[in-house]
Amino acid sequence: MNQNIKRDEDKIKNWKTIHKPVLLQEIIENLNLGEGQMVFDGTLGGGGYSEEICKKILPSGILIATDLDSDAIIRSKKRLEVFNLEKKFFQENYSNIQKILEELKIEKIDKMILDLGISSDQLASSGRGISFQNLDEDLDMNLSTSLKKEKKASDILNTYSEEDLADIFFYYGGERASKKIAKAIFEARKEKEFKKVKDLVDLIEEEIGYFYKNKKIHSATKIFQALRIAVNDEIKNLEKTLKLSPKILKSGGIVGVVTFHSLEDSLVKRVFREMEDMGVAERINKKVIKPKWNEVKDNPRARSAKLRLLKII
Ligand SMILES: C[S@@+](CC[C@H](N)C(=O)[O-])C[C@H]1O[C@@H](n2cnc3c(N)ncnc32)[C@H](O)[C@@H]1O
Repeated sequence: MNQNIKRDEDKIKNWKTIHKPVLLQEIIENLNLGEGQMVFDGTLGGGGYSEEICKKILPSGILIATDLDSDAIIRSKKRLEVFNLEKKFFQENYSNIQKILEELKIEKIDKMILDLGISSDQLASSGRGISFQNLDEDLDMNLSTSLKKEKKASDILNTYSEEDLADIFFYYGGERASKKIAKAIFEARKEKEFKKVKDLVDLIEEEIGYFYKNKKIHSATKIFQALRIAVNDEIKNLEKTLKLSPKILKSGGIVGVVTFHSLEDSLVKRVFREMEDMGVAERINKKVIKPKWNEVKDNPRARSAKLRLLKII
């Protein structure tokens, strides 16, 4: 655990988060939090959810929080300092929650929340090529700031077959020109490896820039999202963790998941339904909860957010 890159902790902890938590009110209302509960925030980020959780469960509750990004942990630790309760932070994948609970000698928790994807802080300044706007950064895209990395986006671009690249762009990004982009990458890498964000953005703009000219999103949005999901094995981690719910949550315990694209949402819907069919849990909301128009107006990032909740029987 915790193979952190040496970061300037003092500087990072004084950066204020720019991330606006999505569907916050809906989450807090539906989690039915109360004093003394043990709550797992698997995607700590800017600490927006955790702040509200702490207020509801203190002084005898316990907050357990994970994030792959050490900057998020450093900053949120500082943000949550004011709350007088036990807090446990881990720079870990949330899918390792069982191992974490064993380490803490906690058998079962009351609530678990996952707010998927990336925070606005990471998009603005990850330094790891997560945003297509930071042209000089390396094509890394790991959410983790740990030194140990299985793969980087550049490894995928430089070594995966044309078919595998097309599948990633189509299934994880919903990019309709997936085959066209995969073919262009396959040809381009014969001449030069993909290293920097600019290498990929230039290619995408050349291939499909005209198609996105009058659209609300940039032509590279879907390809970058797809690569990030692939690099971080986001779908696999989500499925593994959701399936752990009946093992790690008490009877009456609640899981809440906020997703940002259809592949994630259909996975959550499927796994929740399977657990209901097995008789181990019941869905709290059969209809997905979406942000109200005024939240989307205030925070356009919320436009594709969907919340599903499950109660363990
Ligand atoms: C959308 S942000 C969460 C924002 C947070 N709810 C708030 O209110 O500030 C998602 C966070 O989850 C982290 N993350 C994504 N996948 C993860 C994983 N598998 N394990 C741990 N953290 C993860 C990201 O690094 C990011 O900081």
